[in-house]
Amino acid sequence: MAAQEEDSPVGISADVVTNHDLSYPIAIGYDVRQAVAEFVRSDGRRVVLLHDANPSVARIARRVGRSIGKGRTLATLGFALGEARKRLSTVERVLDALIAAGADRKTLVVGVGGGVASDLFGFAAGMFMRGVGYAHVATSLVAMVDASIGGKTGVDLRGGKNLAGAFVDPAAVFCDVSALYTLPLRSLREGLAEIVKAAIIEGDDLFDSLETLSGHDFVRWPWADVVAAAAKVKTAIVHDDRLEAGMRELLNLGHTFAHGIERASHYRVAHGAAVALGLRAAGLLALRTGRFSEREHLRVLTLLTLFGMPLQTSLDADAVLEAMRSDKKRRDGRLRFVLPRSIGDVEYGIECGDRTVRAVLSRLRWAPSSARGR
Ligand SMILES: NC(=O)c1ccc[n+]([C@@H]2O[C@H](COP(=O)([O-])OP(=O)(O)OC[C@H]3O[C@@H](n4cnc5c(N)ncnc54)[C@H](O)[C@@H]3O)[C@@H](O)[C@H]2O)c1
Ligand SMILES: [Zn+2]
Repeated sequence: MAAQEEDSPVGISADVVTNHDLSYPIAIGYDVRQAVAEFVRSDGRRVVLLHDANPSVARIARRVGRSIGKGRTLATLGFALGEARKRLSTVERVLDALIAAGADRKTLVVGVGGGVASDLFGFAAGMFMRGVGYAHVATSLVAMVDASIGGKTGVDLRGGKNLAGAFVDPAAVFCDVSALYTLPLRSLREGLAEIVKAAIIEGDDLFDSLETLSGHDFVRWPWADVVAAAAKVKTAIVHDDRLEAGMRELLNLGHTFAHGIERASHYRVAHGAAVALGLRAAGLLALRTGRFSEREHLRVLTLLTLFGMPLQTSLDADAVLEAMRSDKKRRDGRLRFVLPRSIGDVEYGIECGDRTVRAVLSRLRWAPSSARGR
């Protein structure tokens, strides 16, 4: 697995620094404190540190704060987060807290936490006084390989997830890989589902590495390399299509199905599990439409199984189809899919009829056996 060792932008040093022509650096390391401190020093602004109040994240934030130093820090503020609090009301509390801390137009906001933190703090920073600088220290796998890259920030509305937001590019992203050791396994799996998706898009290097690593305990994984390789897939695509006008849709591989599964389950199925099911469904649809090979489909299923991802659901195919139909991303009344032709060759914008989609969804259906009395 090739770690990206590119020219470090001024003021950043960590084990791995990737940029891929994005306007901001992504530093990945087992200890990013020094890199954050160097970045803040070179930036020159005073900092407000915002963090998820989760005790493990708070500990990381305190360490980052100590490296930045009291003299440069206006305030360190913790917020109880979680998906249920990814709301405009929390953004308002953050904005009020920034004012109370004495932040102004020249303040640099540094957020610490997972994907909820990067979506919410990034959004708040983009709004505060019409936008102040934002840097994110990613502490979850989802944040490292997905949420903190690409500038999409926002919150959920009653009508659905991520329905209010803005593109706010960070000034820098720091992936604190050692944070992964306190991350609950279910959160790690959330990120792994996105990494498998990235590997299907990227192809052999990353996919082969995951196959090799699947035989090893997670604690033995070379996480900095894995995060760098997966982040590279996203940065490369985002660089070519920042505002999601075209090929950024590739990142939705498995997600048309996944969003339908999440909605049909009233969000009882976690996003990562829904993505795993969605990747299986995309493979099945690609097989049915003569795009994908059985052999490669099996490689994907094997990897998902080895990572403990579900491949079956008790959800009704019609309920999922109905939920997919009401997804905000549906255009012109037709369902559009991202489908693999092979591992490393994925196409987007493919329209498929409801009958074919329903047939694929019914293959995901797990029928409880009569032995269990149903
Ligand atoms: N903007 C984007 O492009 C994008 C992409 C993917 C996901 N997202 C968003 O990201 C969110 C999901 O991200 P997530 O899975 O990181 O959720 P999260 O931020 O809620 O973190 C998951 C859980 O792990 C905890 N946690 C975080 N880091 C930890 C650590 N190092 N040790 C122990 N616990 C830790 C959190 O407190 C939380 O309980 C969703 O809201 C999703 O919409 C956004
Ligand atoms: Zn996703």
